[in-house]
Amino acid sequence: MSEMIEPAAEREVPCAGLRIGDVAPDFSARSTTGDVRLSDYRGRWLILFSHPADFTPVCTTEFVALAGSADEFERRDCALLALSVDSLFSHFAWLRLIRDRYDIEVRFPIVEDPTLVIGRAYGMVAPHDNDSATVRTTFFIDPAGVIRAMTCYPANVGRSTPEMLRTLDALQAVDDGPVLAPANWVPGEALLVQPDASLDSVFSAKGHTDWFMKEVKRGSRK
Ligand code: BEZ
Repeated sequence: MSEMIEPAAEREVPCAGLRIGDVAPDFSARSTTGDVRLSDYRGRWLILFSHPADFTPVCTTEFVALAGSADEFERRDCALLALSVDSLFSHFAWLRLIRDRYDIEVRFPIVEDPTLVIGRAYGMVAPHDNDSATVRTTFFIDPAGVIRAMTCYPANVGRSTPEMLRTLDALQAVDDGPVLAPANWVPGEALLVQPDASLDSVFSAKGHTDWFMKEVKRGSRK
């Protein structure tokens, strides 16, 4: 199991600088569905994401969209775990408002991170921002607990749920074999073969691009 996050003051690291391939730092925290521990998600995919603040317009649209696609994430065996600096009771009040106003229940957990100890460890806090809020950071974490992709959007631009699902589909597809997902790939379309980087394959190829550009069609697992 990975090391638990320590308070920032002890680590003296304002922003962790996590990268693809790193093991996601473990933490435990209070959430809207009870206490959660990151390492408890091992064995399934996890999208850990931060938002700047409860009761804000763009964040509200994101949560409505994600809750509306909850079945799609579930079908891909992927849990959602949200986080912001707001208190648990703020989260509760916001989720109630979302339910009453948009007729949708956000059932995935939202972590409270009042000291930003998790947000800072994950680099979710923009270092030059004066207000200590998290930006829209998204971590795609695989069943082994490894960060496989991450995105960072500013407070004034909401994330795309279809693109989050597409990224997850692509990550799962490349894990099913030595294949690559091309631009704009969606399940059902051809993937690319990992090129055989040898001079023999370069010179024996029939066309100019045949040695590095080969498509492969595979049945969708969705
Ligand atoms: C929003 O979600 O609308 C938002 C949050 C923080 C700053 C600006 C906008």
